[in-house]
Amino acid sequence: MNVLLTGGAGYIGSHTAVEMRAAGHDVVVVDNLSNSSEKVLDRLAEITGRPVTCYRADVADAAAMDRIFAEHKIDAVVHFAGLKAVGESVKKPLEYYKNNLDTTFTLLAAMKKAGVKKLIFSSSATVYGTPKKCPITEDMPTGHCSNPYGWTKYMIEQILMDYTRANPDFTAILLRYFNPVGAHKSGRIGEMPNGIPNNLMPYITQVAVGKLKELSVFGNDYPTPDGTGVRDYIHVVDLARGHVAALRYDKQGVGVFNLGTGVGYSVLDMVKAFSRVNGVPVPYRIAPRRPGDIAACYADPAKAAKELGWRAELTLDDMVRDSWNWQSKNPNGYEN
Ligand code: NAD
Ligand code: WQD
Repeated sequence: MNVLLTGGAGYIGSHTAVEMRAAGHDVVVVDNLSNSSEKVLDRLAEITGRPVTCYRADVADAAAMDRIFAEHKIDAVVHFAGLKAVGESVKKPLEYYKNNLDTTFTLLAAMKKAGVKKLIFSSSATVYGTPKKCPITEDMPTGHCSNPYGWTKYMIEQILMDYTRANPDFTAILLRYFNPVGAHKSGRIGEMPNGIPNNLMPYITQVAVGKLKELSVFGNDYPTPDGTGVRDYIHVVDLARGHVAALRYDKQGVGVFNLGTGVGYSVLDMVKAFSRVNGVPVPYRIAPRRPGDIAACYADPAKAAKELGWRAELTLDDMVRDSWNWQSKNPNGYEN
């Protein structure tokens, strides 16, 4: 298939481009590079052995999107493009609602004009809010998000469900990612957080490389085995392969899938695994809980296994090793 990746120069999109090509598909990227570097494209060419077609454009720019669909026969779209920083979304809610919703509206209109009927959407486990139990299944309630970013995901899911109901020959696949970490094993592509990272794994790697002094562990009094927060960390390469599997989904209507491993690890599990595998110490201190955090969140990934034939295969050791490989080879991200 020929797959358009909106936001394909970003962290998850770039890894998905590699896995799509490895599976025999081809990709076209559209990205405004608001949170990525054009160097990603050179590295994708290096990893996959040939250049990647990329349009530097805003997905909310209707003329640009129409042009892309006119110039390429696209079979399916993966919609990664969006703003994703939880804390920033609290400070700049309108920017988040506008960017994440407008890109979706413009994309759907352009797909309709071009007759493209399959969309895979980057949703998030954040739509479950505070889950009543773990592991989380797809039929559990969504909403009660704790920040505007999460609400954009919730709203886009709702929009896609309504749109699909009105257009029964359309397929929307909502992939709810848990906590992506790791990087391609080459160490050539990876996550490039802006400024001080909010997420755990980039914080750990930046402490390990000496850019940050110590990790603050946000709370050790949660009702979890060691008191620190538990999450379902998933290797970004496994996650990328989940999108390849979603291309095979051939039912019409909406398909909702958790992409996680089904296993929860605590903050201290992650710190210890990182030090053990990489032989690098990660100084940390216990700090107060972070507002909005929940105690535990991990997936039941059975539905994706059954209906998409996909399951995560890479281990915790792979995740911490590949995160460190990327960070240590690219201490300043793509700016080296
Ligand atoms: P990322 O920021 O690395 O990638 C997003 C890409 O979209 C960037 O390259 C950015 O430049 C581009 N972009 C943003 N707005 C755009 C616009 N208007 N037009 C064109 N390009 C635009 O983020 P990521 O971690 O790769 O996440 C990809 C998707 O997955 C996002 O939608 C994110 O919300 C979602 N998601 C991410 C996580 C996570 O922890 N990384 C978890 C769940 C869901
Ligand atoms: C993981 C654990 C923290 C940093 C966020 C978004 C979610 C999704 C993924 C996009 C928690 C603890 C963290 C630190 C710490 N993104 N932690 N010290 O909060 O599960 O999910 O990213 O959709 O929407 O909310 O991920 O990596 O920030 O935190 O102790 O410096 O690590 O308290 O228990 P989170 P995270």
